[in-house]
Amino acid sequence: MGTPEQILSDRLAHAFEAVVGEPVDPLVQRSQFADYQSNAALGSAKRLGRKPRDVAAAVLAAADLDDLVEHTEISGPGFINITLRAQVLGSMAGAVGADDRLGVPPVEPETVVVDYSAPNTAKEMHVGHLRSTIIGDAAVRITEWLGHRVIKRNHLGDWGTPFGMLIEHLLDIGEAEAAAELSVGDLNTFYTAARRKFDGSDEFKERSRRRVVLLQGGDEATLRLWRLLVAESKQYFMKVYDSLDVRLVQADFVGESAYNDELASVITELDRLGLLRSSEGADCVFPAGFTGRDGEPLPLIVRKSDGGYGYATTDLAAIRDRLTVLGATRLLYVVGMPQQQHFAMVFTTAREAGWLAPPARATHIGFGSVLGADGKVLRSRAGGTIKLVDLLDEAVDRATRAIAEKNPDLDTGSRAAVARAVGIGAIKYADLSTDRLRDYTFDFDRMLSFEGNTAPYLQ
Ligand code: ARG
Repeated sequence: MGTPEQILSDRLAHAFEAVVGEPVDPLVQRSQFADYQSNAALGSAKRLGRKPRDVAAAVLAAADLDDLVEHTEISGPGFINITLRAQVLGSMAGAVGADDRLGVPPVEPETVVVDYSAPNTAKEMHVGHLRSTIIGDAAVRITEWLGHRVIKRNHLGDWGTPFGMLIEHLLDIGEAEAAAELSVGDLNTFYTAARRKFDGSDEFKERSRRRVVLLQGGDEATLRLWRLLVAESKQYFMKVYDSLDVRLVQADFVGESAYNDELASVITELDRLGLLRSSEGADCVFPAGFTGRDGEPLPLIVRKSDGGYGYATTDLAAIRDRLTVLGATRLLYVVGMPQQQHFAMVFTTAREAGWLAPPARATHIGFGSVLGADGKVLRSRAGGTIKLVDLLDEAVDRATRAIAEKNPDLDTGSRAAVARAVGIGAIKYADLSTDRLRDYTFDFDRMLSFEGNTAPYLQ
């Protein structure tokens, strides 16, 4: 007995065995019966010296499927196409619908860490962060729904050399002014102004450098200003998350700075394990299997020649924390494809250090770029980075206009709610409905169209 699917599968397997004289691999039988049927039939036919289509016909003749199947057909080189009876399909759909878990079997619960969104402090989020946020949110919801314990991690870029110039700029314009600029989400203006001074003035550059040293040395006055910048940015990012209706909350912000105290011990441990090598004054790990264009082993720099730690060291500290302190057995990193090699090297290093060991595993969930109409990475008309909030606002504006046209009688309150659902839904759906790894073109007209594979159509 069993589901119609299992019954059908068993009967075909029996028929197959009767005709071919060898059993069906039960694993393949369950997961990909149709493919198996065709491939095995092709292979077996060759061994039997018979035409694959004849084998397929013999299998069908030997199987009694009448109660389940309306119609069968042999096509191509020997594929068996089966059309189920409507009542059979109906009962299968009914069984799925009546099951809280929609027919998905229960899982052995694991602790899963999902690393996603991760914008950089005092810098505008770009469309890459938008994709990471949307895909990561989907991963969180699905993984939780499956029954796992999910820990969200927003690995905010909240540390490093840029803070020297950002803090000096903050001091130049004054705290009140800086807070005002940042709280309205004008992160680009702030960041570019700092950058411009840094590039244009040796005096500012020198001040910035000294400020980084103070920051890393734990100077309290400097730390206070750094906290101010981070707090304003976090509030701004929360606004974006709220409007996207993703599950990230402030407690999920565990930025790069959170691992500062772990960096030195990461180095000590790598050294103790004999994994550390000095290269041009820097401390490096050379994870197995990575070579550069010249065929030379590729280094993962864990301590720069000036003694500073970098992005990779922080990720190593984070992976160790997630595996050993949080007890995760599954790590997901939703970050764009340009960082694929970085994660591959970090994972291999973590394996070589013994932190990442079965059953624990780590996966980089990469994704393609968002392109503009010109086929290049999406930019504003002026050529700068596009403000994410502007994109979201425009989607809602366009949806508002479309609704006013299509449904002029809707009261204003409902209109606003529907416009949000349609506008934001359109952006999320356009992102999630494409092949994750491929680049896609950001096109308001298409994503907001009421026809085709779009959110408004579904809604
Ligand atoms: N802040 C980085 C960026 O904007 C992304 C961080 C991704 N997560 C990580 N664990 N490295 O590119």
